[in-house]
Amino acid sequence: MTGPELALVPAAGLGTRMRPATRVVPKALLPVVDRPAVQHVAEEAVRAGVTEVIFVVDLGVGSLIRDHFTVGEPLPGLENLKVRIVVQEEPGGLGHAVLTARESIGDRSFFCLLSDNIVRPGADVLPSLAAASDGGSVVALREVGEHMLDRYGVAIPGERRGSELEVLGAVEKPGIENAPSNLGLVGRYLFTPEILEALANLEPGYGGEIQLTDAIDFVARRGRCRGVVGDSDLLDIGIPLGLLEAAVVLGLSRTEFRDGLTEFLRSLEELR
Ligand code: G1P
Repeated sequence: MTGPELALVPAAGLGTRMRPATRVVPKALLPVVDRPAVQHVAEEAVRAGVTEVIFVVDLGVGSLIRDHFTVGEPLPGLENLKVRIVVQEEPGGLGHAVLTARESIGDRSFFCLLSDNIVRPGADVLPSLAAASDGGSVVALREVGEHMLDRYGVAIPGERRGSELEVLGAVEKPGIENAPSNLGLVGRYLFTPEILEALANLEPGYGGEIQLTDAIDFVARRGRCRGVVGDSDLLDIGIPLGLLEAAVVLGLSRTEFRDGLTEFLRSLEELR
Protein backbone atom coordinates (compact mmCIF):
# COMPACT_ATOMS: atom_id res chain seq x y z
CA MET A 1 0.00 0.00 0.00
CA THR A 2 1.31 3.47 -0.78
CA GLY A 3 1.53 5.87 2.15
CA PRO A 4 0.21 9.39 2.60
CA GLU A 5 1.75 12.23 0.59
CA LEU A 6 1.43 14.58 3.57
CA ALA A 7 3.68 14.69 6.63
CA LEU A 8 3.24 16.67 9.82
CA VAL A 9 6.34 17.60 11.79
CA PRO A 10 5.70 19.06 15.24
CA ALA A 11 8.83 21.19 15.68
CA ALA A 12 7.73 23.60 18.40
CA GLY A 13 9.08 23.47 21.93
CA LEU A 14 11.46 25.67 23.82
CA GLY A 15 14.36 23.24 23.68
CA THR A 16 15.09 23.67 27.38
CA ARG A 17 17.24 20.53 27.42
CA MET A 18 19.47 22.10 24.78
CA ARG A 19 20.22 25.42 26.49
CA PRO A 20 22.15 27.60 25.89
CA ALA A 21 22.20 26.54 22.20
CA THR A 22 18.46 27.25 21.98
CA ARG A 23 18.40 30.70 23.61
CA VAL A 24 18.10 32.29 20.17
CA VAL A 25 18.24 29.47 17.61
CA PRO A 26 15.11 27.26 17.48
CA LYS A 27 16.01 23.66 18.32
CA ALA A 28 14.58 22.47 15.00
CA LEU A 29 17.38 24.41 13.28
CA LEU A 30 20.27 23.00 15.32
CA PRO A 31 22.62 21.29 12.87
CA VAL A 32 23.35 17.59 12.80
CA VAL A 33 26.47 17.18 10.61
CA ASP A 34 25.76 19.73 7.85
CA ARG A 35 22.02 20.34 7.91
CA PRO A 36 19.42 21.25 10.51
CA ALA A 37 17.31 18.65 12.27
CA VAL A 38 14.17 19.63 10.35
CA GLN A 39 15.88 18.93 7.05
CA HIS A 40 16.85 15.41 8.13
CA VAL A 41 13.22 14.80 9.04
CA ALA A 42 11.91 16.32 5.77
CA GLU A 43 14.33 14.11 3.78
CA GLU A 44 13.07 11.02 5.62
CA ALA A 45 9.48 11.97 4.76
CA VAL A 46 10.35 12.53 1.09
CA ARG A 47 12.05 9.11 0.93
CA ALA A 48 8.65 7.67 1.93
CA GLY A 49 6.88 9.46 -0.94
CA VAL A 50 5.77 12.63 0.86
CA THR A 51 5.28 15.73 -1.31
CA GLU A 52 4.09 18.18 1.36
CA VAL A 53 5.35 18.80 4.89
CA ILE A 54 3.58 20.92 7.50
CA PHE A 55 5.88 22.12 10.28
CA VAL A 56 4.24 23.19 13.54
CA VAL A 57 6.52 25.81 15.07
CA ASP A 58 6.70 28.38 17.86
CA LEU A 59 5.64 31.96 17.36
CA GLY A 60 8.41 33.95 15.68
CA VAL A 61 10.45 31.14 14.13
CA GLY A 62 8.20 30.11 11.25
CA SER A 63 9.87 32.41 8.73
CA LEU A 64 13.33 31.04 9.62
CA ILE A 65 12.24 27.48 8.99
CA ARG A 66 10.38 28.40 5.82
CA ASP A 67 13.43 30.35 4.58
CA HIS A 68 15.67 27.36 5.15
CA PHE A 69 13.64 25.39 2.62
CA THR A 70 12.74 28.12 0.16
CA VAL A 71 15.47 30.80 -0.05
CA GLY A 72 18.38 30.32 -2.46
CA GLU A 73 19.21 27.23 -4.48
CA PRO A 74 16.67 24.41 -4.01
CA LEU A 75 17.87 21.78 -1.53
CA PRO A 76 18.97 18.62 -3.36
CA GLY A 77 16.26 16.00 -3.23
CA LEU A 78 13.70 18.45 -1.82
CA GLU A 79 13.18 20.53 -4.97
CA ASN A 80 9.52 19.55 -5.28
CA LEU A 81 8.63 19.51 -1.60
CA LYS A 82 5.80 21.82 -0.61
CA VAL A 83 6.55 23.34 2.82
CA ARG A 84 3.84 24.81 5.01
CA ILE A 85 4.24 26.45 8.39
CA VAL A 86 1.65 26.41 11.14
CA VAL A 87 2.31 28.45 14.28
CA GLN A 88 1.44 27.07 17.71
CA GLU A 89 0.92 30.35 19.51
CA GLU A 90 1.25 28.97 23.01
CA PRO A 91 2.69 25.72 24.31
CA GLY A 92 0.01 23.10 25.02
CA GLY A 93 1.73 19.78 24.47
CA LEU A 94 2.35 17.51 21.51
CA GLY A 95 -1.34 16.71 21.02
CA HIS A 96 -2.16 20.40 20.96
CA ALA A 97 0.59 20.98 18.38
CA VAL A 98 -0.89 18.34 16.07
CA LEU A 99 -4.38 19.75 16.54
CA THR A 100 -3.11 23.24 15.64
CA ALA A 101 -2.52 21.94 12.10
CA ARG A 102 -6.05 20.56 11.76
CA GLU A 103 -7.23 23.03 9.14
CA SER A 104 -4.12 22.54 6.98
CA ILE A 105 -4.43 18.75 7.21
CA GLY A 106 -8.12 18.72 6.31
CA ASP A 107 -9.46 15.23 5.68
CA ARG A 108 -6.14 13.73 4.59
CA SER A 109 -4.20 10.89 6.22
CA PHE A 110 -0.66 11.90 7.16
CA PHE A 111 2.62 10.71 8.53
CA CYS A 112 3.67 12.39 11.77
CA LEU A 113 7.40 12.65 12.55
CA LEU A 114 8.71 14.09 15.81
CA SER A 115 11.66 16.30 14.97
CA ASP A 116 13.57 15.45 18.18
CA ASN A 117 14.15 11.99 16.75
CA ILE A 118 16.19 11.14 13.67
CA VAL A 119 16.24 7.69 12.12
CA ARG A 120 19.53 5.87 11.79
CA PRO A 121 20.85 5.57 8.23
CA GLY A 122 19.11 2.73 6.40
CA ALA A 123 16.54 2.27 9.19
CA ASP A 124 13.52 4.19 7.84
CA VAL A 125 10.24 3.14 9.46
CA LEU A 126 7.59 5.08 7.50
CA PRO A 127 7.28 2.51 4.67
CA SER A 128 6.54 -0.25 7.19
CA LEU A 129 3.81 1.90 8.73
CA ALA A 130 2.18 2.39 5.32
CA ALA A 131 2.47 -1.34 4.60
CA ALA A 132 0.78 -2.25 7.91
CA SER A 133 -2.19 0.09 7.50
CA ASP A 134 -5.62 -1.47 7.06
CA GLY A 135 -7.28 1.92 6.75
CA GLY A 136 -6.71 3.04 10.34
CA SER A 137 -3.74 4.61 12.13
CA VAL A 138 -0.37 2.88 12.62
CA VAL A 139 2.29 3.64 15.24
CA ALA A 140 5.99 2.77 15.25
CA LEU A 141 7.00 0.85 18.36
CA ARG A 142 10.18 -0.48 19.90
CA GLU A 143 10.88 -2.72 22.85
CA VAL A 144 12.38 -0.35 25.39
CA GLY A 145 14.21 -0.87 28.67
CA GLU A 146 12.42 -0.42 32.01
CA HIS A 147 14.07 2.95 32.63
CA MET A 148 12.46 4.28 29.43
CA LEU A 149 8.90 3.51 30.49
CA ASP A 150 8.49 6.93 32.08
CA ARG A 151 9.93 8.69 29.03
CA TYR A 152 7.80 7.17 26.28
CA GLY A 153 4.17 6.59 25.48
CA VAL A 154 3.58 2.83 25.85
CA ALA A 155 1.21 0.63 23.82
CA ILE A 156 -1.32 -1.86 25.11
CA PRO A 157 -0.62 -4.75 22.73
CA GLY A 158 -3.19 -7.05 21.18
CA GLU A 159 -2.64 -9.97 18.83
CA ARG A 160 0.84 -9.92 17.28
CA ARG A 161 2.07 -11.46 14.02
CA GLY A 162 5.77 -11.01 13.42
CA SER A 163 6.54 -7.35 13.78
CA GLU A 164 2.92 -6.18 13.35
CA LEU A 165 0.24 -6.07 16.02
CA GLU A 166 -3.15 -4.75 16.98
CA VAL A 167 -2.87 -1.83 19.37
CA LEU A 168 -5.65 -1.89 21.98
CA GLY A 169 -4.73 1.34 23.74
CA ALA A 170 -1.80 3.53 24.82
CA VAL A 171 -0.61 5.24 28.00
CA GLU A 172 1.63 8.32 28.14
CA LYS A 173 4.78 7.82 30.26
CA PRO A 174 3.28 5.18 32.59
CA GLY A 175 6.51 4.30 34.38
CA ILE A 176 7.51 0.77 35.25
CA GLU A 177 4.71 0.37 37.83
CA ASN A 178 1.86 1.02 35.39
CA ALA A 179 3.34 0.09 32.01
CA PRO A 180 1.01 -2.22 30.04
CA SER A 181 3.99 -3.55 28.01
CA ASN A 182 7.55 -2.65 27.05
CA LEU A 183 6.47 -1.35 23.63
CA GLY A 184 7.35 2.35 23.43
CA LEU A 185 6.00 4.83 20.87
CA VAL A 186 9.12 6.07 19.12
CA GLY A 187 7.87 9.24 17.41
CA ARG A 188 6.80 8.01 13.98
CA TYR A 189 3.11 7.63 13.18
CA LEU A 190 0.65 7.26 10.31
CA PHE A 191 -2.64 8.91 11.21
CA THR A 192 -6.06 9.10 9.63
CA PRO A 193 -8.02 12.34 10.26
CA GLU A 194 -9.82 10.47 13.07
CA ILE A 195 -6.88 11.36 15.30
CA LEU A 196 -7.76 15.07 14.96
CA GLU A 197 -11.34 14.42 16.00
CA ALA A 198 -10.05 12.50 19.02
CA LEU A 199 -7.60 15.28 19.93
CA ALA A 200 -10.30 17.93 19.67
CA ASN A 201 -12.34 16.18 22.36
CA LEU A 202 -9.54 15.39 24.82
CA GLU A 203 -9.11 16.77 28.31
CA PRO A 204 -5.53 17.60 29.35
CA GLY A 205 -3.66 14.46 30.37
CA TYR A 206 -0.12 13.71 31.58
CA GLY A 207 1.64 16.90 32.68
CA GLY A 208 -1.57 18.92 32.21
CA GLU A 209 -1.07 18.84 28.43
CA ILE A 210 -3.14 17.56 25.51
CA GLN A 211 -1.35 14.29 24.80
CA LEU A 212 -1.08 12.69 21.36
CA THR A 213 -0.83 9.33 23.14
CA ASP A 214 -4.31 9.85 24.64
CA ALA A 215 -5.75 10.37 21.16
CA ILE A 216 -3.98 7.19 20.02
CA ASP A 217 -5.58 5.43 22.99
CA PHE A 218 -8.99 6.71 21.86
CA VAL A 219 -8.72 5.41 18.29
CA ALA A 220 -7.03 2.18 19.43
CA ARG A 221 -9.93 1.38 21.79
CA ARG A 222 -12.20 1.55 18.75
CA GLY A 223 -10.07 -0.99 16.87
CA ARG A 224 -8.56 1.64 14.59
CA CYS A 225 -4.85 1.35 15.38
CA ARG A 226 -2.07 -1.04 14.53
CA GLY A 227 1.59 -1.06 15.50
CA VAL A 228 4.88 -2.05 13.88
CA VAL A 229 7.71 -3.10 16.16
CA GLY A 230 11.11 -2.04 14.83
CA ASP A 231 14.46 -3.23 16.09
CA SER A 232 16.41 0.00 15.63
CA ASP A 233 16.19 2.96 18.01
CA LEU A 234 15.97 6.54 16.78
CA LEU A 235 18.62 9.12 17.61
CA ASP A 236 17.36 11.51 20.28
CA ILE A 237 18.72 14.90 19.28
CA GLY A 238 16.73 16.74 21.95
CA ILE A 239 19.54 16.25 24.48
CA PRO A 240 23.23 17.19 24.14
CA LEU A 241 24.60 13.62 24.35
CA GLY A 242 22.07 12.44 21.76
CA LEU A 243 23.02 15.27 19.44
CA LEU A 244 26.69 14.29 19.72
CA GLU A 245 25.87 10.64 19.04
CA ALA A 246 23.72 11.59 16.06
CA ALA A 247 26.54 13.66 14.56
CA VAL A 248 28.88 10.65 14.81
CA VAL A 249 26.38 8.09 13.48
CA LEU A 250 25.22 10.27 10.58
CA GLY A 251 28.76 11.50 9.93
CA LEU A 252 30.04 7.93 9.60
CA SER A 253 27.27 7.17 7.08
CA ARG A 254 28.51 9.91 4.72
CA THR A 255 31.21 8.82 2.29
CA GLU A 256 32.88 12.25 2.32
CA PHE A 257 33.34 12.20 6.11
CA ARG A 258 33.68 8.48 6.90
CA ASP A 259 37.44 8.07 6.59
CA GLY A 260 38.39 11.30 8.33
CA LEU A 261 35.93 10.77 11.17
CA THR A 262 36.92 7.13 11.65
CA GLU A 263 40.56 8.12 11.84
CA PHE A 264 39.74 10.84 14.36
CA LEU A 265 37.68 8.48 16.56
CA ARG A 266 40.46 5.85 16.46
CA SER A 267 42.98 8.47 17.52
CA LEU A 268 40.82 9.27 20.54
CA GLU A 269 40.73 5.59 21.50
CA GLU A 270 44.50 5.44 21.38
CA LEU A 271 44.64 8.28 23.86
CA ARG A 272 42.75 6.31 26.51
C1 G1P B 1 6.82 12.38 23.07
C2 G1P B 1 5.51 11.62 23.19
C3 G1P B 1 5.73 10.20 23.68
C4 G1P B 1 6.73 9.51 22.75
C5 G1P B 1 8.04 10.33 22.65
C6 G1P B 1 8.99 9.72 21.64
O1 G1P B 1 7.34 12.59 24.35
O2 G1P B 1 4.65 12.32 24.09
O3 G1P B 1 4.53 9.49 23.69
O4 G1P B 1 6.98 8.22 23.23
O5 G1P B 1 7.77 11.67 22.27
O6 G1P B 1 10.20 10.40 21.64
P1 G1P B 1 8.49 13.70 24.63
O7 G1P B 1 9.79 13.08 24.17
O8 G1P B 1 8.12 14.90 23.85
O9 G1P B 1 8.47 13.92 26.12
